[in-house]
Amino acid sequence: MKNSFHLNTRLLGLIGYPIKQTLSPMMHNVAAQLMNLDYMYLPFPLHHSDLKDGILGLKTLGFRGFNVTIPHKETVTKYLTSLSEEASIIGAVNCVVIEDGNLIGYNTDALGIYETLQPFTAEIQGNEVAIFGAGGASRAAIYTLIRHFKPSKIHLINRTSQRAESLMNYFVTNMRFNDITVHDLFPPDIASVIAKSALVINTTSLGMHPETEDTPFEHTGGFKKGQIVFDMVYNPSNTKFLSMAKAEGAVAIDGIKMFVAQGSRSFELWTGQKMPEQEIYDTLQKYLNT
Ligand code: ATR
Repeated sequence: MKNSFHLNTRLLGLIGYPIKQTLSPMMHNVAAQLMNLDYMYLPFPLHHSDLKDGILGLKTLGFRGFNVTIPHKETVTKYLTSLSEEASIIGAVNCVVIEDGNLIGYNTDALGIYETLQPFTAEIQGNEVAIFGAGGASRAAIYTLIRHFKPSKIHLINRTSQRAESLMNYFVTNMRFNDITVHDLFPPDIASVIAKSALVINTTSLGMHPETEDTPFEHTGGFKKGQIVFDMVYNPSNTKFLSMAKAEGAVAIDGIKMFVAQGSRSFELWTGQKMPEQEIYDTLQKYLNT
């Protein structure tokens, strides 16, 4: 990784709160070094109340751009100059490019979700899917599913039902998709919803290192053989949610591919260069808590 920097070193960063266990700095700093690009990527835990000032600070200090993570992906849109068409439909941003003092918001999570689920298109099309969570990551998942995978119905399961309801209404208005139903996060009540879903996605942070005993769904016999279960948590790669799904015969997909794909697209937006994805993927394996 980079061990020196100069006047011309371009700065990148990550804002979120709390920033628990991110591998983004490692990914971007290793990529810059492999590509011989003079960039440095730093993590900044930024509380909600400091979001506006923090973003202004990054702009004032001449940052080239930054990633945005939990819980700011939706709120950050208020402080940006413009949004890409995709970020604007999704209503959430996880990557910002700073160009001539303008802050331009992108959503590269959507590409990561698309690349992860693309091999399972036939299984998803025309079938019901279930999503845990109703934050920024969930927005990107709903958008990608409606746009590319055409499920017959989306079940949205969230701790705060009001938030899920407003997301449901958002996609009726913005994508004319009327087939979202909202459910409370009450096991075992949600077991019947999971049972009829061809695809189940966790977009919450539940299960992320170090709270590895957490899971959005715990119900013996809750998963089905052949069902596709995707966890956006990438560290650990084998979350409790995924190991339960696997034990019951489901096809378990971890969050690493999405993590690398969203990072790779962000890197390209900032530097104009493609990230060496396979090398990064291999390097990541050494740092992950399996
Ligand atoms: P992101 O933008 O990355 O999706 P977010 O907007 O903070 O992050 O959303 C996090 C999601 O995880 C939300 O759906 C949140 O549920 P609430 O809407 O009820 O807050 C969910 N989540 C986070 N921690 C949770 C927990 N301990 N139990 C249940 N759900 C949780």
